Amino acid sequence: MDIDENKINSINKCISPVYEDGIEDILSKYNITATTDLAQSVQDSEISFICVGTPPNPDGSQDMGYIKSAAKDLSNALHSTVTRNYVPLDIGKNMPYGHTVVVKSTVVPGTTENIVIPALEEHGKKAGKDFGVCMNPEFLKEGTAVADFMNPDRIVIGEYNKESGDVLAELYKDFKCPILRTDLKTAEMIKYASNAFLATKISFMNEIGNICKALGIDVYDVARGMGYDGRIGNKFLNAGIGFGGSCFPKDVNALVAKSKDIGYEPEILEHVLKLNDEQPLRIVSLLKKHIPTLKGSTVGVLGLSFKPDTDDIRESRAIPIVNALLKEGASIKAYDPKAMDNFRKLFPQVGYVAPEDVLSSDAVLILTEWKEFDELDYKGKTVIDGRRIIRAKKEADVYEGICW
Ligand code: UDX
Repeated sequence: MDIDENKINSINKCISPVYEDGIEDILSKYNITATTDLAQSVQDSEISFICVGTPPNPDGSQDMGYIKSAAKDLSNALHSTVTRNYVPLDIGKNMPYGHTVVVKSTVVPGTTENIVIPALEEHGKKAGKDFGVCMNPEFLKEGTAVADFMNPDRIVIGEYNKESGDVLAELYKDFKCPILRTDLKTAEMIKYASNAFLATKISFMNEIGNICKALGIDVYDVARGMGYDGRIGNKFLNAGIGFGGSCFPKDVNALVAKSKDIGYEPEILEHVLKLNDEQPLRIVSLLKKHIPTLKGSTVGVLGLSFKPDTDDIRESRAIPIVNALLKEGASIKAYDPKAMDNFRKLFPQVGYVAPEDVLSSDAVLILTEWKEFDELDYKGKTVIDGRRIIRAKKEADVYEGICW
């Protein structure tokens, strides 16, 4: 169920409103239907997942508007519909509730208890008595969302009471991964701690990379040597121009805001964000080593999405970089396999061209590690690489890696 009719119509035609590998096969294979009628969807189902966005307020804290209104609408629907009191199909005969509401959105600890449940109870029905409540964080990554969802490392079930948790345990019983059952706010915190840890890992490697660069050491060799240590692990050690996307920056900011709210100064997390703000601008400083005056020059940009295999440019590191280049008076020619339309809305003054055209610029910046960038011809070019494209490293006439 969604309030956006365009999305509903598109899903009902098996066309995904977002670009995501494998999603359209699922839409057609499982005959998934979408509606704008919440009461009907509650009536026809046993579980509602709240998956609305939690955008940031200007101070970094979470805007709870969508969560609150989804919970209020659900309260209305729960009140006005006679939900099932048994479940006929494969979900188990002993379903404790006619309906269970599950918070899937990433929300700061305490939200389900203090905001969602009171809103759900607004029309008199009680959590734990008339309906179940769970908090079930999602750990999927964009671009590999379907595969990540189907093969999770773990499933976390935050439960209001045991009966609520039993509903989700039943739903997920065929997944072959550890299933952890916790209280609501622990589940909420597991999601934040996981994202904050991964963001910290990236900023940490960027810091090591900045030190390596100054010492003439290749940080990717260092990362390889570190990754064999089972306590460290070899994933998320790629130094570069920092993390973007709809989750890491927003979630770390929200955790910082929440910590401050309760009187704790989260120094590590604040530095993770500070480093991530500064890191993309280092590529502009490196460029200026080769072209001291950018005014009047043409800079090529390869990659605009926040990571490969997505058209998403939210918090993409390309945004502060393009802003800085424009401020310096450079003209920009850019290419991205998927994200040019989205980027054009923010930066109509940039020229969107074919990759070969980008390569004809005075210098080229690589900002996203799309696979196809490994097939371009970098001979004779000046390349400043923010993401480690091996062919560019091998072939370019003048080559600088941001941390290597
Ligand atoms: C992230 C989490 O991985 C996922 O568990 C959570 O549910 C949502 O947020 P996502 O934002 O889709 O997923 O992308 P991810 O692949 O984690 O990358 C985030 C950013 O970190 C990208 O900008 C990427 O380029 C950057 N990154 C990632 C690095 O700079 N180095 C790395 O080693 C890994």
